[in-house]
Amino acid sequence: MDFLKLYYDEALKVFYEAGGSKEEFYWLISSMLVRYPAHRDELEVRRKLMDLIVQEVDGKVLDAGCGLGILTFRMALKDEVEKAMGIDKFDELIKFCNRLRDKITEKAEFLHGDFLEVELREKFNCIVFLYTLHDYEPKPFLEKALEALEEDGRIIVGDFDINGLREKVRVFTRENGLEIVKDITVGKAKTHGDLYEGFLITVGR
Ligand SMILES: C[S@@+](CC[C@H](N)C(=O)[O-])C[C@H]1O[C@@H](n2cnc3c(N)ncnc32)[C@H](O)[C@@H]1O
Repeated sequence: MDFLKLYYDEALKVFYEAGGSKEEFYWLISSMLVRYPAHRDELEVRRKLMDLIVQEVDGKVLDAGCGLGILTFRMALKDEVEKAMGIDKFDELIKFCNRLRDKITEKAEFLHGDFLEVELREKFNCIVFLYTLHDYEPKPFLEKALEALEEDGRIIVGDFDINGLREKVRVFTRENGLEIVKDITVGKAKTHGDLYEGFLITVGR
């Protein structure tokens, strides 16, 4: 299923429903497209991280900081995934994801809220953070994830090693008696004004 085309078509509807004009459309899209050469390598690493995460997950999956929900939908489309829940603090993103559910799969569910505050009433086999933690201190996010994790579940972090994120995840793992199941480097790219390694860490109990 070419669901990025569905994304585009639906995003276009959101734009025109809100009164966007042709002129504004060209302006907005051009401003994104001209940034592509500078962001191509970063996108490539993010895409690889996403592919690896999709391969790795099964059961009930939580996508913390799901953004546009592309990863959430890709995971939900896997047979091995019972359901994938995306959480994001931006309401317009969650509303957009919900518009796409009946077009892509209802195995994807979306929740608007702050991951650190939201009450999660169920446990998950996999909790993933893709390109979400680099702007934050990861500890409270990882603590919250541990609370919502099934006994044999896994936390998966895919990101750039900005602000020492990779070592912070390793330290959290050691301090909480967890096991690093996987710790790999996935390319290098310019992002946030410098060159950073992309990495994927999978943690279990
Ligand atoms: C850089 S984007 C990445 C989105 C997506 N994971 C991806 O790979 O494209 C980070 C997302 O995390 C969300 N986010 C950050 N802190 C959050 C929190 N405490 N609770 C829920 N969402 C959060 C932001 O709103 C944003 O959509």
